[in-house]
Amino acid sequence: MVIVETKDITKVYQKGTDVPIYAVRNVSLSISRGEFVAVMGPSGSGKSTLMNIMGCLDRPGEGHVLLDGQPVHTLSDEDLARVRNEKIGFVFQSFNLLPNTSALENVELPLIYSDRDHITETAKSALEKVGLADRLHHTPAELSGGQQQRVAIARALVNDPEILFADEPTGNLDSRAGYEIMALFQDLHAQGRTLVLVTHDAGLAGYATRIIQIADGRITSDKENRKTRVARDELKKMAETPEVNE
Ligand SMILES: Nc1ncnc2c1ncn2[C@@H]1O[C@H](COP(=O)(O)OP(=O)(O)OP(=O)(O)O)[C@@H](O)[C@H]1O
Ligand SMILES: [Mg+2]
Repeated sequence: MVIVETKDITKVYQKGTDVPIYAVRNVSLSISRGEFVAVMGPSGSGKSTLMNIMGCLDRPGEGHVLLDGQPVHTLSDEDLARVRNEKIGFVFQSFNLLPNTSALENVELPLIYSDRDHITETAKSALEKVGLADRLHHTPAELSGGQQQRVAIARALVNDPEILFADEPTGNLDSRAGYEIMALFQDLHAQGRTLVLVTHDAGLAGYATRIIQIADGRITSDKENRKTRVARDELKKMAETPEVNE
């Protein structure tokens, strides 16, 4: 079953009198439930623009986005925000957590917006699932980068979204923390979660089951990854060779 579909979407930025920038051009693409998709491409190729449009954070200039088969362009900004809160989780390179606010309160926020019951218990359970049961009352400044990203992942998952988008989620992390995040994503995929990972790193894309390449705003390749790497193997290797520093 298709969760997100883009139909011939284009996004052009026109800055001053400069030539227009085609951040995304004529992209048609569909993502089905349970897929783990990596979107790859060089810096400036349109990965974030495409992801923000697929995740309904941004609207295309031309073309349509369907979420669960429903066109989203007819929705008001307010309705779109509600749909996003219910159906879509986002994780960013820079974590985007509220400072001076505990891990638990950060994860509670989307539940408060969606007016849910049992907010604290649900947020606690989301933090337990990312291995942070013992860090509930730490603020972002009191957590490592990898831990902050796991709080952000718990926050993205707490409303049980249909799909999780992650834009360069390991970009600010060292390789061990990066493998830990990738191992967590592979566990989520094994549990049936739909994931879209944006990266310019071929090594990281190797953990996904489908790899889409984009260049200059266009899809240049879209293939199943038959040799999916396993992040836990990488972590195991690291544990076996603790004396090797990077
Ligand atoms: N708000 C904006 N206004 C003008 N131009 C923009 C804007 N956002 C993106 N662009 C341009 O659109 C193109 C695609 O940008 P985008 O951020 O999607 O690239 P990216 O593939 O995510 O790059 P990176 O790997 O560096 O994050 C770039 O040329 C960028 O300069
Ligand atoms: Mg980007």
